[in-house]
Amino acid sequence: MGGLAELQAREEARFAETHPRSHELFGRAREILLEGVPMHWMRKWPGGFPLFVREAKGARFVDVDGIEYVDFCLGDTGAMTGHAPEPTLRAIAEQAAKAITLMLPSEDALWVAEELSRRFGVGSWQFALTATDANRFSIRLARHLTRRPRVLVFNWCYHGTVDETFATLVDGVVGPRGGNLGPPVNPAETTRVVEFNDVDGLERELAHGDVAVVLSEPALTNVGIVHPEPGFHDALRELTRRHGTLLAIDETHTICCGPGGYTAARGLEPDIVTIGKPIAGGIPAAAYGFSDELAARLAGTIELEDVDVGGVGGTLAANALSLAAMRATLAEVLTEDAFARMIPLAERWTEGVETGIAEAGLPWHVTRLGCRAEYLFGPDRPRNGTEAHDAGDFALERYMHLFALNRGILLTPFHSMALMSPATTDADVDRHTEVFREAVLELGAG
Ligand SMILES: Cc1ncc(COP(=O)(O)O)c(C=O)c1O
Repeated sequence: MGGLAELQAREEARFAETHPRSHELFGRAREILLEGVPMHWMRKWPGGFPLFVREAKGARFVDVDGIEYVDFCLGDTGAMTGHAPEPTLRAIAEQAAKAITLMLPSEDALWVAEELSRRFGVGSWQFALTATDANRFSIRLARHLTRRPRVLVFNWCYHGTVDETFATLVDGVVGPRGGNLGPPVNPAETTRVVEFNDVDGLERELAHGDVAVVLSEPALTNVGIVHPEPGFHDALRELTRRHGTLLAIDETHTICCGPGGYTAARGLEPDIVTIGKPIAGGIPAAAYGFSDELAARLAGTIELEDVDVGGVGGTLAANALSLAAMRATLAEVLTEDAFARMIPLAERWTEGVETGIAEAGLPWHVTRLGCRAEYLFGPDRPRNGTEAHDAGDFALERYMHLFALNRGILLTPFHSMALMSPATTDADVDRHTEVFREAVLELGAG
């Protein structure tokens, strides 16, 4: 054993030694929870077992062993607002005492829809509980409207657990994404896949005339950050219009670019916008909005008698509690002012990481999108999902994350991403820079 494996073993031993209570709880969890975790993604944390959390506030949390961490994972964007923001807490407490869920609208739905329209430029909204559902319902309505069977996604995208999106392109052939559990059908039947930034490929696939909707993040964020090249969004919009295909932009992560996400920051003109995760400060809530033109086309096409069995919506969707939490979060937490603080923090984080990489002489790079930043284990910015995916190194990623965790820093377990909240401070960022530098200097010297 040597090199990275040796360093990993050292960090795992340190982790086990310093987290006896989490270790003990994990032992009990293995008796009663499938694979020892309440949701199987939590197996992905490095260190052999997940931390059990005692409490979280702002940009920090404390585990059951009493150790405090700076949180750059922020619930993988669910807590981008910072943990337990006061305005959201107040709204939740007040609303919960009045009404939680009724299958009747509350007035907050109007305020939230108006605010989302103002931010994202599409005027007709519906609510769901997760971004996954917002995407699923949008796809279904797009197929219903266009009477076309397929969707188009970009290679190595992630839009939640939406069957149609678990498709990858390998050597020009669409197939199930590796690791996708029990795919209902070969996704080649439901989905066309193109590399991000590949305008020719997009044109070729849309020309089949069977694509109801292109579902895309405006910049990929789930395989490492992949920025759109100049002109890509113009081409995407022009081609979808020309081929009668709808364009759905998923802003669930790219809300990091500002109050109206990438759509407002770059003047995109989608037919559909979907968003979830942080918009209610961590309370389950999501939204999907349609352009006025699309809403007019939809009007009268859904049979009243069948609205509750059409495959769109859900019992707890648009409940009064999640609407109140969304209202408070949008009004007082994810504000213009908050982004004006968060984005410079991500710039500071990026500079710190860049300096560390240069000092250690490693062939890595760091990239930023609004208040989100990420390092990748290759020298150049990826142009598409495949290049980003191929620059991944699972063992190295786990080591970097565990090294940070052992020194009080939490990064998302899915890639090497850091997110800034309104509660994050310069000192939090500088602590990450210090720890990152220590890690890469050791790696560079190895
Ligand atoms: C861009 C994007 N859309 C949708 C989702 C799904 O969110 P949820 O798991 O909350 O349904 C995710 C989750 O990571 C995402 O990154």
